[in-house]
Formats: sequence, structure tokens, C-alpha cells
Amino acid sequence: MKIQDCLLPALALLATLPMNAELVDISTAKTSLILDAEKGSPLKVLYYGDRLDARDKDVLRDAGGMNLNAYPVYGLYPQAEAALSVTHADGNRTTDVAVTDIKTSTENNGASVTTVCMTDKAYPFDVNLNYRTYPDQDVIETWVEIKNREKGTVTLNRFMSGYLPVRYGDVWLSSLYGTWADEANLTEEPLPHGVRMIKNKDGLRNSHTSHGEIMLSLDGKPRENSGRVIGAALCYPGNYKLFIDTDDTNFHHLFAGINEENSEYHLKKGETFTTPELALTYSDEGLSGVSRNFHKWGRKYRLHAGDKERKVLLNSWEGVYFNINEEVMAGMMEDIASMGGELFVMDDGWFGDKYPRDVDNSTLGDWVVDTNKLPNGINGLLETAKKNGVKFGIWIEPEMTNTVSELYENHPEYIIKAPNREVVKGRGGTQLVLDMANPKVQDIVFTVVDTLMTKYPEIDYIKWDANAPIMEHGSQYLTADNQSHLYIDYHNGLIKTLNRIREAHPDVTIQACASGGGRVNWGILPWFDEFWCSDNNDALQRVYMQWGTSYFFPAIAMGSHISASPNHQTFRRIPTKFRADVAMSGRLGLEMQPRDMNDEDKDICRQAINDYKAIRPIVQFGDLYRLQSPYDKKGVASLMYVTPEKDDAVFYWWKIETFMGQQLPRIPMAGLDPDKMYTVTELNRIDNEPLPFEGKSFTGRYLMSNGLEMPLTYKVDYHKNTDYSSRVLRLTAK
Ligand code: GLA
Repeated sequence: MKIQDCLLPALALLATLPMNAELVDISTAKTSLILDAEKGSPLKVLYYGDRLDARDKDVLRDAGGMNLNAYPVYGLYPQAEAALSVTHADGNRTTDVAVTDIKTSTENNGASVTTVCMTDKAYPFDVNLNYRTYPDQDVIETWVEIKNREKGTVTLNRFMSGYLPVRYGDVWLSSLYGTWADEANLTEEPLPHGVRMIKNKDGLRNSHTSHGEIMLSLDGKPRENSGRVIGAALCYPGNYKLFIDTDDTNFHHLFAGINEENSEYHLKKGETFTTPELALTYSDEGLSGVSRNFHKWGRKYRLHAGDKERKVLLNSWEGVYFNINEEVMAGMMEDIASMGGELFVMDDGWFGDKYPRDVDNSTLGDWVVDTNKLPNGINGLLETAKKNGVKFGIWIEPEMTNTVSELYENHPEYIIKAPNREVVKGRGGTQLVLDMANPKVQDIVFTVVDTLMTKYPEIDYIKWDANAPIMEHGSQYLTADNQSHLYIDYHNGLIKTLNRIREAHPDVTIQACASGGGRVNWGILPWFDEFWCSDNNDALQRVYMQWGTSYFFPAIAMGSHISASPNHQTFRRIPTKFRADVAMSGRLGLEMQPRDMNDEDKDICRQAINDYKAIRPIVQFGDLYRLQSPYDKKGVASLMYVTPEKDDAVFYWWKIETFMGQQLPRIPMAGLDPDKMYTVTELNRIDNEPLPFEGKSFTGRYLMSNGLEMPLTYKVDYHKNTDYSSRVLRLTAK
């Protein structure tokens, strides 16, 4: 992002600006953000919500209420929380900025950017607030450029991406929390007085323990399909901080940005610091409405190749772990091809010459084929893939190394390490993180991908993993006085590298994996086609994890695999039908050794893959309507996807507990056209006879008021009965 040069003399400005230049209207199709940009004063935010009628806009200020600084800065009246806090070159810790100019520009993709330029009243120090909108979206991206024109270095102590006041009331926060193998749990709570903070300090992976995205329901307890809701997503792959300060004013104050702790940034004379974007959206169609806004915007503008269908794949990890060899890989390719899959991905364990990667304690960084395991190399595997009519993908973890590796032996200076201390080691007791702040390391990481793709252009998919946090605060590259830049410069370096990779290799599909779901955020997805939600593939727990993930991220990006039973994480035994019905609500894949399946289970997978291909455009490009939350403990969870034209839909119903005498709610559907007739077809059917409504047609109105009655069990031969039950229905409009 280039800083807009807004430093025209004030008098010239007055002459060129139209009379009503103070009101800045950042409107999308259905929402408006109204700012007051009076020259000589700080920028004020007057309104955010439903799109405003022009007539109301004119009298907005007279209605009273919100008239707060759009980007509060620290120093004068320092009692309140601020979005920006700096120490000027002369040591002054106060900042006082006022509007000097407003600019608009159009980007290549059609987005409009409004920039409100502010300058400190006493210092040559600029703060430009940017607002980006897209013609067909209801998301507003906001970010800040901070420019130092002072005589010396300015220190940024806090530098948030954005601030938004929300009128005090019965406002509820929806956010995600978790841990490895238990990611994206949903929590909903009324905003407390004081501060509610969501933060990340991992350094590298930022969506295990919490997520940088939230929703605020303005009308009391959150509802899926009604009520006013604001969504906020910080688009940043590193450490973040989102907090809501509910103080003694009439507002809840939302701040979101890079976590400034231990990260003060030194801005040299002439330098500009650009914050990551904060994406804001608003909907009066409840939580699901905000999710749809994020999904639509994300698919079109933030997810790599968000308009391209994702393939059905088999990933080798849980099937064989490190036991990779040519024969086993060939068998897996044959099996996934025979079930209708389109892609095979070889996970960890394929590389290493001096140190073969047989377990997790060596070799990261030595990205050469282990020819003992794979005598015919990658080319041999590509040939086998071609023979089977599937594409081939490969696992890498390019930001990492191990103490046991040729890379580390040759370049110990490339790792993250503090001076005068024993290095801290991670996974396998040997894993180390490469210092992405170092341009030489950036080159190495670029070369890992570039070499693979140049030598083997037929590689279709890369699983990019990252299995460690930043384990100590120390960069061997950064100077002693800039050690606080480590966390930020790591991600700047990563983004620079990803830009190079995408420029050279735009077509390869890349999955963001980080110890499971550690990299699920809009700050990383512009370079990635999808993410891995979790290392936990237990279908029952996935109902919860994918529910939470769907708040902010679309199904097209959500890797969701049928794994073995008993499950490798929870050891729960879940029938294949239920596992398939859950997996096919995201980007369907398999994560097991197909040779361990019996023919009946293989048939279920084959049918699921076949059915999924038919509904793939609805799942991957459709609008999500969440219907019944698993968190409501009603015994069932349900959601559906509907095409934008409302002519085709898929309905999912998963029974999540089993008791005799259970009284489950009937689930009204949503998102259909009330006047269209929808014909029902069950997918993944295992019953001996069809459901009563199979092949029957109903109006969208009936389905949305009443839903359909789901039987609690399957009609199958006695020995096939299980305690699980799930249904997937396709609804096709005539
Ligand atoms: C991480 C990933 C897994 C798998 C392993 C390989 O844990 O999340 O899916 O790729 O690494 O070591």
C-alpha cells in the first residue's frame, strides 16, 4: 500500500474542496459508515449500520449520539484507551492529529479507497485512515498509514488497525477459543463492564487459542438469522489484540490491531508504517448474515483463487504417518482414484538425504527426496498419479528446521535465537524456527517452493505447514536496538516471500496448515486457497469446530476429511456415513489408509465423493444459513447452503447425541425462495427404503416455516443400526 500524499497546504485545500466535504460517506450496498472530516479537527465517526437514507444523513448530527474520534490517539486526556500511542523524536508522548485532506482512488479490482489524511498539529507526523469498499460487497476494510517526517526516529508504542464505537446496550460478543485439536470453539457472552480482550502471542500461528475475528450482536443474545450484528476480522497472520472497553460513556469501544506488547516499532525519519486491515461488516440478518458477508467478500477478494472449485483429495498423514514409500503411495493413489477422488497429497516423511525424516525430530529444511523411500523420486510419483488419473500434492514446512538437519549445520545463523542462551527447541525436541525477518531466509523459503514447482510443474497442491511458535524473543538478523521488531518483521518477511511465490506460481493450490488450525485468518488467505481446520478429525467434534470456523470462513476453504474409526485423536467410533456427512459440509477429503476400509465403507465414501461433486458448487460458492447450533444442546445441529439464485440447496442434519425418548426440534430451513418449489433428494443414502419426502416437492415457504421431519434412526438391516444418525438433502428448484 502506498501512502497517499495528503500534505497540501491548508488554504489550497479549502479552495478545492466542495462545501459539504466534512461528511465522508463510506457506504456499501446495505451498510453505511459516516465520518465527519472537518478540516482542522480530528476525524469523527458518526454512524455505522444499515445503509443510511440521504435525508437522514443530513440531520445525523442532530439525532445526537456517536461523535467520537474515529482513531483515538494517546496523550491529551490520556485516561481513555487509544488506538495509537507514539513517542515523538524529541520524547514527547502526546499526539494530536487533525484532518488535512480527503482523497479517493480506485484500485485495479474495482475497489474504492477513501483516505482521510490527518497531521499532528505540532509535529510533522501523519496518520492516514483508509477505508476500502467493493462494489458488490458489504465489507469495509480499514487500515492506517503512519508516516514520520520528524527529524529523528519515532517509536510506535501502540498502532491499532482500527477503532469502532458501538452504542452501549445489551451487546453480546461471539468469539472463538480453543487449543490444538480443539480449535474454533464458540463462546457467546454479554459484554462486561471493563475490558474484554482477545489476544494472540504465539508469534507465528494465531488461531489455536483464540481468533482475530469477532461478532457483536446489538440486540441481546445472538441469533442466527435475525438481529443486528457487527462483524470484525483483523486480517493479520501474526500476534494480535482485539479488545472492547466498556467504560462510563454510552459506548463499547472496539479496538483491533497488531499486538504491540514487546513489539514497539521504531519508525525512522521518512518511513511509513502500514497496519494490517481490519474488515468490518454489518447485517440485520443475524450471525449468519454477517458470516455470508465475510464469505462472499473473502471468496472474491481475499482467498486465493476463491472462484475455483476445490478438488476432492486423499491426504496420507493419518493413513501412514511417516511410513512413506513408493508402493504405499501408489496404493493410496489407486484407491482414491477408484473412489472418484481427484487429488492425492503426500504428507510429512518424504524427504532427507543425510538425515532421513522418519520421525518428527529431524530434517526440516533439507527438502530433497529420500531416495531410499522413493527411488523414482517425485517424477515417479507424478507418473503414478497420471496413470491413475489423479493430481499430486506434497507437504512442506518451509519456515522451519531442526537441530538435526543439513540446513542448520550449515547455517545456524538463520534461526530465531536470543544471544547468550541455549536455543529453545520445539517439536521432536529439535525443531527450530527460521528467522523470516532475514532476507536470506526469505530467499531460502521462496526457493523451497520455487524449486519444487520448477522441477515438477505438475505438482498441483502444496500443504504448507508450520508446527512451532516463536519460542524465544531473539533475531540474529535484526540489530540490538530493533529486537522489538521481531514479531512484525517475521510476518513482513513471510508476506514478502508469499508474494514472490504467488507471482511465480499463481496456479498451485496451497493449504495453510499450522499444527492443524493454527493459521485460519484473513491475513494469510490471500496467498492460500484453503486452510486445515484442525488435527482433530473426529466427526462429532468437527461439527462444533466447523460450526465456529464457519462464522468467519467459507466452506470452500475449510479442509474437512473423512478419517478412520476409531478416530486417531478421540478414539471414538463413528460410522462412515456420519463421518462422510460431516466432511462433505466443507472441502471434502479423506485422511486415512483406504486399504484399511471394508468394501461397504469404501462404497459409502465412493457415493459421498460422487454426491459431493454434484453439490460442490452449492457448498463451495453458495450462501451459508446456520439453522440449529450444536452449542444449543438440542441434540441436533443443522445448516444449509443455498445458491445465490436460490435454485439449488443442500441441507445438513446431524444428530449429536442419542437417548431413548429423545424429542428433537424440527428444523425450519432458511435462505430459500418462498415461492419456488423444491424437490427433495437424499444424498449419501444408506436406508433400505427412501425417506417419505424423497422426490416430493415443497414450496420454499413451507420448508422455511416447517422444515421436514427427520427420522431419528436409519432404516437398515438390524446389524447395521448405530447410535449415530445424519442426513444430507439436496433441494432443487424446478
Ligand atoms: C501437523 C499437521 C498434520 C501433519 C503433521 C505432519 O501436525 O497439522 O496434518 O501434516 O504436521 O508432521
